[in-house]
Amino acid sequence: VVDIRKFYADTGAFTYDPGFTSTASCESKITYIDGDAGILLHRGYPIDQLAEKSSFMEVSYLLMNGELPNKAELDNFTYTINRHTMVHEQLATFYRGFRRDAHPMAVMTGVVGALSAFYHDSTDISDPDQRRIASHRLIAKMPTLAAMAYKYTIGQPFLYPDNNLSYAGNFLRMTFGVPAEEYQVDPIIESAMDKIFILHADHEQNASTSTVRLAGSSGANPFACIAAGIACLWGPAHGGANEAALNMLREIGTPDRIPEYIARAKNKDDPFRLMGFGHRVYKNFDPRAQVLSKAATEVLDKLGISDPVLDTARELEQIALKDQYFIDKKLYPNVDFYSGVILSAIGFPTSMFTVLFALARTAGWIAQWNEMITDPDQKIGRPRQLYTGATQRDYVSVESR
Ligand code: ACO
Repeated sequence: VVDIRKFYADTGAFTYDPGFTSTASCESKITYIDGDAGILLHRGYPIDQLAEKSSFMEVSYLLMNGELPNKAELDNFTYTINRHTMVHEQLATFYRGFRRDAHPMAVMTGVVGALSAFYHDSTDISDPDQRRIASHRLIAKMPTLAAMAYKYTIGQPFLYPDNNLSYAGNFLRMTFGVPAEEYQVDPIIESAMDKIFILHADHEQNASTSTVRLAGSSGANPFACIAAGIACLWGPAHGGANEAALNMLREIGTPDRIPEYIARAKNKDDPFRLMGFGHRVYKNFDPRAQVLSKAATEVLDKLGISDPVLDTARELEQIALKDQYFIDKKLYPNVDFYSGVILSAIGFPTSMFTVLFALARTAGWIAQWNEMITDPDQKIGRPRQLYTGATQRDYVSVESR
């Protein structure tokens, strides 16, 4: 690792690195990835152990505070998050300004940004207490906001949170409860939902997290920064890939059509890519995809659902893993490949997939934002450029052009 700052100060030279493929933008103690070995650690703990043994509340605490909570700390954190699950009633009015058929990610970008107008007190980023309250508010309110986005698009009334339920259970009830009193949270679905949240909680300096840090580096308030992260996550090359992956699997339809799509993915004249395949950092396997692949089978089995999409996904994975093109380019299923199959089995429409990703990633975004704010080396993010435009020339009046 070369610290380029001294080199720059001494020589005036700088590096050209489109897409930041080899530039560390910060130091961080939160998440470690070894892409060649397929390792993902949060504060040192392997993702598969966290997904198997912990809860999203524990992982959120871990990301923010650096250590797993003891029982009292976990109870206290869960109590604090529960206390903040409600949103201001006026926010419901804000939702009603959106078109009924708006994409829920468009709604989320708007409402999360609007939180800064509702919670002015925690926009003072110089106050550690307010930073902590803003962080709790964001983690706590995301399930409520996400469920409201869903309810709004299907024309059903919003449901208030029930703080006797778990984080995942509460979200499921607010999303699927019709009427709320009769909705029973299915423990299988609740556990799968929590696992999905854990698997999406953080992933070091990906595009959306870098966006949150970049927005925050100017001193913008945390609600605005998380809204920026949501906007970035929406893209099909990032969080939108799980929606795109499931749409692709449905389009393929049956395993016999897979070779046609593999051929398209390999054809350089065709912009088509196998969605849910490939990763900037993982060049061996994505450990999150392995956990989700297992979970997909478990959830569908336990729910008694037989979905041909899962068969197509499994077959596609097997064919691609043996194909020289995918081997040479080190393309493996990523977290988005199987998550859509599970989310669809639970009952979410594809348009909600990225919303769920944003909900879970808020824990990581806010942990990264806090780390950045308290980093003594932190500066405003200001990438340089390699100018390739016109050289200096004189203005010509419009009549003479
Ligand atoms: N299907 C077919 N070919 C692919 C795929 C794919 N899914 N992904 C990469 N390639 C090829 C590229 O065409 C390129 O080929 P070339 O060297 O002949 O030009 C080579 O592999 C490298 O691809 P890049 O786009 O340069 O790799 P990068 O690291 O920039 O991109 C990305 C990673 C964006 C994830 C890419 O693999 C992709 O578009 N995958 C599909 C979308 C997807 O699943 N995104 C989810 C990512 S995980 C997440 O955000 C949570």
